[in-house]
Amino acid sequence: MPGKDLESEIRHGHHGGNVMTVAQPCIEPAAHREPERHLWCISDLTVSYGEVIALSSVSLNIKENSVTAVIGPSGCGKSSLLCCLNRLTDFIPGCCVSGRILMHSKDILGGQIDDTRLRKQVGLIFQKPNPFPLSIRRNFELPLREHGIRDRQEIEHIMQSTLEATGLWKEVKDRLNKPAHQLSGGQQQRLCIARALSLRPDALLMDEPCSALDPISSGQVEELVLSLRERYTIVIVTHNLSQARRLGTDVALFWLRDGKGTLVESGPASQVFEAPRDDLTKLYLRGAIA
Ligand SMILES: Nc1ncnc2c1ncn2[C@@H]1O[C@H](COP(=O)(O)OP(=O)(O)OP(=O)(O)O)[C@@H](O)[C@H]1O
Ligand SMILES: [Mg+2]
Repeated sequence: MPGKDLESEIRHGHHGGNVMTVAQPCIEPAAHREPERHLWCISDLTVSYGEVIALSSVSLNIKENSVTAVIGPSGCGKSSLLCCLNRLTDFIPGCCVSGRILMHSKDILGGQIDDTRLRKQVGLIFQKPNPFPLSIRRNFELPLREHGIRDRQEIEHIMQSTLEATGLWKEVKDRLNKPAHQLSGGQQQRLCIARALSLRPDALLMDEPCSALDPISSGQVEELVLSLRERYTIVIVTHNLSQARRLGTDVALFWLRDGKGTLVESGPASQVFEAPRDDLTKLYLRGAIA
């Protein structure tokens, strides 16, 4: 974290002025959208837990079929942002969310999308893989049945195709009735991604999905993300800047400012990494502050 003086110098001194980037307005309606479309248009999002302001007035558009890497130091509100995008915040006692999040131009905070549908459309992958304590097969059956798919053959087909898509099929096809917890950490993480994909989501939210994995498993998850990035909208939180550079088509840097999580800069990864506009971004990406 920068000292107060450094932060103050960055904000008010010769390093430059306003650090907040302003999101472009959503391009609607769908029929008239330009090729670069946004899945989410977030405006003035504020998230608090009692006295703690986890995110303060964040405005950010997230492109469809791309990977947005969310970076920034601990406690700046990255996980809180992900929780808002599929309204997991509803389940957090004392969590208060204000502002607007449009998804496919529907106001998700205003309840224009049914919660169950929203969580099917937006899969969430955590730092620690969380397969159900059941067999590999049941890990697919359960959510698919929950979402109305009951035909056994169809379930088997979806399970196989998503396991193939995540490169896991060959590794697990002979042990589908064995407990998912017997898989390695990396395999469990890919299983969780396959399980999320089995519901045919539009988007995946990934909260530090590789940070509990060894380098080889981490590389496999990265390859998987790259293979998915043209078909899904992926938002990935990472503390690994090299990973953000490898995976991100876009990047958003958050920072804790006056105790509040704030968006510092966002844009195409090439621009943010190679020509950052904000001095705080320059220092952070250079490793001068952490
Ligand atoms: N359930 C909760 N109850 C109370 N405060 C919370 C809760 N979840 C998060 N916070 C607080 O909100 C702020 C932002 O937390 P958040 O988890 O979003 O940060 P983060 O950027 O994901 O951090 P990290 O990189 O450590 O995961 C922190 O001050 C945190 O303590
Ligand atoms: Mg977090």
